[in-house]
Amino acid sequence: PTTRTYDFVVSEMEGAPDGVTKPMLVVNGVFPGPTIEANQGDRLIIKVTNQMSNKTSIHWHGIPQNGTNYYDGTAAITECGIPTGQSLTYDFSLDDFSGTTWWHAHDTEYTDGIEGALIVHPRSYPPKFPTWDEDLVVELTDVYHTFSGVIAAELYAGNGSLSPLFLEIPDSGAINGIGQYNGSANYFDFDLKPNKTYRLRLIHEGSAAAFRFSVDYHSLTIIEADSTLIEPQVVSGVSLAVGQRYSVLITTNQTAEPQGNYWMRSELTTVGSLPDVNTDVRGIIRYGNSKSLPTASTDPGVPGSGLSDLNTATLAPAIVQKPLDSTKSYAVYFSVAESTDGGTITFMNGTSWQPLSNSSTLLHIVDAAQKGQSFAPEGSSVELGNQFMITEDSIETVDLLLVNQDPGPHPFHLHGHTPFVMGFDTGTFNGTGLNTVNPIYRDSYIVPPAGWLLLRFVTDNPGIWTLHCHIAWHMAVGLLMQINSLPSVSAKFDIPQTILDQCRV
Ligand code: C2O
Repeated sequence: PTTRTYDFVVSEMEGAPDGVTKPMLVVNGVFPGPTIEANQGDRLIIKVTNQMSNKTSIHWHGIPQNGTNYYDGTAAITECGIPTGQSLTYDFSLDDFSGTTWWHAHDTEYTDGIEGALIVHPRSYPPKFPTWDEDLVVELTDVYHTFSGVIAAELYAGNGSLSPLFLEIPDSGAINGIGQYNGSANYFDFDLKPNKTYRLRLIHEGSAAAFRFSVDYHSLTIIEADSTLIEPQVVSGVSLAVGQRYSVLITTNQTAEPQGNYWMRSELTTVGSLPDVNTDVRGIIRYGNSKSLPTASTDPGVPGSGLSDLNTATLAPAIVQKPLDSTKSYAVYFSVAESTDGGTITFMNGTSWQPLSNSSTLLHIVDAAQKGQSFAPEGSSVELGNQFMITEDSIETVDLLLVNQDPGPHPFHLHGHTPFVMGFDTGTFNGTGLNTVNPIYRDSYIVPPAGWLLLRFVTDNPGIWTLHCHIAWHMAVGLLMQINSLPSVSAKFDIPQTILDQCRV
């Protein structure tokens, strides 16, 4: 294994991803931020220096952090946040993790630009797995012209006139940091070779909208869902919710566009239960010799192919892992409601998460241990500001049923684990519809509108792991809960002094 070191400097800057100048928060002056590329088993050491006026923390989405929960980068949960002018050096092993993922600030600051790709190459691929010539990273975002802190505050407090939910609608979107607003015509451009196969690593680094990705006239062979290699499927397009990734293969052998230039499209579709936005964000895949624009004005699809878009219910892992029988089960109901001042608030089992100020959940566990107390609140913990939490101090196989009481879909993510998605559907869960044979395991999944999703995972990773809606605005107004695994192990964590000091500012 190799140790890879990175220097991240987070700062405030003006930028114009879609042509409109807006305030941004960025790492090393670029948007999207630097790509981290490593091999399975490597160790990453990332020094993050905060030059912004607000504190920040960086989360490594999907990385197990086994034994290093305090480097999970979850503000107010595993750390208090890096104060202005200070640094924190994240230092963790990738262990057995491999695949396509991303890193991001763990609050709405990522909407302003603190995010980037994290690519980990596996030691090997399964036998007979498809091959490709070259890897390309495709980072998809939505773009808001208003600073995220302003949107989050208005969403919570209400802003008088507008239904607060409409604040969640983005102004536009971008592909690898370039988008179009109101007829502006800048496009991210991949200059490729003909008759090659490329792996596009699609990463949804956005904040709210779902994106439908497609490439005009080209079929897509999906080979990876989040960081899980899957049985390949050929589709015409794929929909990504916030936090999700798909790797797709395309072959540069089409002739429909005479100049050899094709649109790739990231169409912004649903934002929760709001009407579809239908904003068409475009980039270019070119493998001719011309710099002209593709000619297709509307999406031609893949003519004559009879293909349809990915149906996630059909995803099967390339390496089947048989889930253990569950030993514990919980149901968690979540909803979106109107706050007392006319804004939006969200609940999980009746509690709405609010970040602790100058403290973290992990700190509470360690403090309690030092006083000889065990810290293992079950259900809602008053000590932690009435946050819903599940605690397991032994290794259990947990079935967690997420019940969506809202008419919109919600993309959830559990830190530190790659749970099995045992089943999901609209309507009420009646004990059937579970896949116990070859369920997909992945870290980001959609709980269907007025529906349910059942996750199964093992509480063998000590620490505090958040389970939250990855719509940045929903997490900001409380759609987050915590799983407290093996607190008697995490109580003995040797938390780096820099992290403890963060909480004393
Ligand atoms: Cu992508 Cu809680 O994170």
